[in-house]
Amino acid sequence: MTAYSLLTFIEDCRATLHDSGGPDGRERIRTNLEKLLNEPAFLQEHCGADAQPGIHKLHHDSELGFVVLAHIYAHGKVSPPHDHGDSWAIYGQATVFTDMTVWERRAGTSDGHVELDVKQKFRLDPGMAAIFEPGDIHTIDFPAGARFIRVTGTDLSRIPTRRYDLDQHRVTTNLPT
Ligand SMILES: [Fe+2]
Repeated sequence: MTAYSLLTFIEDCRATLHDSGGPDGRERIRTNLEKLLNEPAFLQEHCGADAQPGIHKLHHDSELGFVVLAHIYAHGKVSPPHDHGDSWAIYGQATVFTDMTVWERRAGTSDGHVELDVKQKFRLDPGMAAIFEPGDIHTIDFPAGARFIRVTGTDLSRIPTRRYDLDQHRVTTNLPT
């Protein structure tokens, strides 16, 4: 059987997004990302022991705008709750795990005093991928050695995104760079 490669994954993303820019298309991309994350050759090349710490752009599609990133960290990390603006994001685990918390903004709370409630918690183990729809708020929490692939619908540095301070109950908008 032929290995599923990064190049084929990207071609499949392109075909899928031409066909469907909605949730069903994202589900197909999620399934394909899980297939890619079960390929030893891909894992070794992009998420293996020799991978340098940092966030590496594996693909930025010039026509459709989606981005494929490899997140290689030297240490564990807990992110603040954040969204990906108007973009979707699909996180796929390569090594160790990431604990996800999905938050729901409490109705009626203002940007000056925002309240978030936990909507869902789950763990992404190696080979698993999960979709965050536009506007979804989540936290990522992973230990040392965790590595993951993230596919976003657009380059997040080019759109406003938001992060939340749970202690201060504040929202900060990250503006495009
Ligand atoms: Fe995120």
